[in-house]
Amino acid sequence: MERPRVIINVAQSLNGMIAGPGGRRVTISSGHDRKRVLEIRSKVDAVIVGANTVVNDNPRLTLEGHLPDHSHGPMRVILDGTLKIPENSHVLDGTSRTLVFTWNQQKDLKGAELVRMSRESLTISRILEALWAMGVRNVLVEGGKQVIHEFIDAGAVDEFHIFVGNVLIEGGGMILFDPPDDISGVMNDIQVMEGGLLISLDPHSLMISWKKKVKAF
Ligand SMILES: NC(=O)c1ccc[n+]([C@@H]2O[C@H](COP(=O)([O-])OP(=O)(O)OC[C@H]3O[C@@H](n4cnc5c(N)ncnc54)[C@H](OP(=O)(O)O)[C@@H]3O)[C@@H](O)[C@H]2O)c1
Repeated sequence: MERPRVIINVAQSLNGMIAGPGGRRVTISSGHDRKRVLEIRSKVDAVIVGANTVVNDNPRLTLEGHLPDHSHGPMRVILDGTLKIPENSHVLDGTSRTLVFTWNQQKDLKGAELVRMSRESLTISRILEALWAMGVRNVLVEGGKQVIHEFIDAGAVDEFHIFVGNVLIEGGGMILFDPPDDISGVMNDIQVMEGGLLISLDPHSLMISWKKKVKAF
């Protein structure tokens, strides 16, 4: 079955956190890193995030006017089984198309097109299949942790970039790969950038190690 190409991008602190305590948003990216992410956004058909990312961070997921040759930007895709994102979320502001994948069969959400599926059908492979059928050929997954893990579980990752920002998040927080996740030898490339490091993982090795880890527990 064909599926869109999947790029995962995430920013983490020096101590491995992608969010502060209780999912609090922390600025980790530098100006150069934000520009790099906007450039990827400008080249994909859709940007995907989970419901908690919308609830906690309220991102716009647009091109933020940085790249004027793309007037609309990518479609915004939210995975929100229960339809918990607030009605005043930026992703519902109508500035670009927003799809919400949900198993909630009752509620409506102004500003989004709802793709209602059964709870069992809302797997990453079925979501990618549905997006492919709509003409989506490449996607950028921007978080959060649960959604990123679901893409790795599904074996649906073609590029994986982690920006490690020059930031330490104290007082606990959300770590992308929790101990005892013990995965080594998955780094492809590393670049020094303004404000941090850009690490690219080898998705193939990551997914093989991940499957071994899941079997071991
Ligand atoms: N540093 C970074 O680069 C970065 C980027 C993005 C987010 N974040 C952080 O990550 C945190 C959120 O991560 P998270 O792991 O809590 O949540 P998340 O991955 O953003 O969202 C998880 C939620 O999405 C819904 N969902 C997930 N898979 C689904 C599916 N297949 N079908 C339908 N709905 C699905 C579920 O909502 P329901 O339970 O309602 O169904 C689930 O609770 C935020 O605090 C944010 O700050 C960091």
